[in-house]
Amino acid sequence: MNRIVEVLADKSALIERSQDIILSRLQTAIKSRDQFTIALSGGSTPKPLYEALSSQSLPWSKIHIFWGDERYVPATHQDSNQLMARQAWLDRIEIPAENIHPMNTTSADPVQDAQKHEAELQEFFSTKKGEIPVFDLILLGMGDDGHTASLFPHTEALTESNRLVTVGNKDGQPRITFTVPLINQARCVLFVVAGANKRPALKQVFAEQADAMNYPSRLIQPQGELLWLLDQAAAAEL
Ligand code: 6PG
Repeated sequence: MNRIVEVLADKSALIERSQDIILSRLQTAIKSRDQFTIALSGGSTPKPLYEALSSQSLPWSKIHIFWGDERYVPATHQDSNQLMARQAWLDRIEIPAENIHPMNTTSADPVQDAQKHEAELQEFFSTKKGEIPVFDLILLGMGDDGHTASLFPHTEALTESNRLVTVGNKDGQPRITFTVPLINQARCVLFVVAGANKRPALKQVFAEQADAMNYPSRLIQPQGELLWLLDQAAAAEL
């Protein structure tokens, strides 16, 4: 396994290091392919990272923003991952609107919206059916139950192997989420995890043996880079 784990002293050091890694992978991608594709995570951890990125002067027209998962709410809803990233980052920079590729959550049919986004990915990456797009970087968080994106324990989404995007399920609430095969195709998967409440799940995710259906973050084993950035509070029991 090509997993690299870095433990940072505190949340602000974690955010700074996360930004450094994103900027370096962005530079490499733009140098070699003249574009950088990143899928963002939601939740609360990445908000200061997005705020930090908003003050960078970068070739925004070469940067394409996606999301690894989305709550099934309108983009104006307070729970929307898209709204959080726009308010913390995207509304503060000169990025072309067409470079922002949110997941659809508007048809009232999550399955249809998941398939629509999958088609959008295939079109953007010019991949054919059966081919898996390669993101330059997929940013992930981890819940205190060991979930990542909207791949929650013991849900069907965990074993979806024929799709790029599927419907996740959090306590009966639908989510739209990248699938494991799509995430594992990325050139770089970057987990950013902070806080003592993540310790128990981290122990299981990093254990020699544990049930990946219980701790879905174990399923993320990309052929590219796998970087885990943890703050000391989260990593204390590893
Ligand atoms: C979401 C995220 C989710 C998140 C984890 C950690 O839609 O909520 O994509 O996977 O990364 O739940 O969330 P926190 O950063 O808030 O702990």
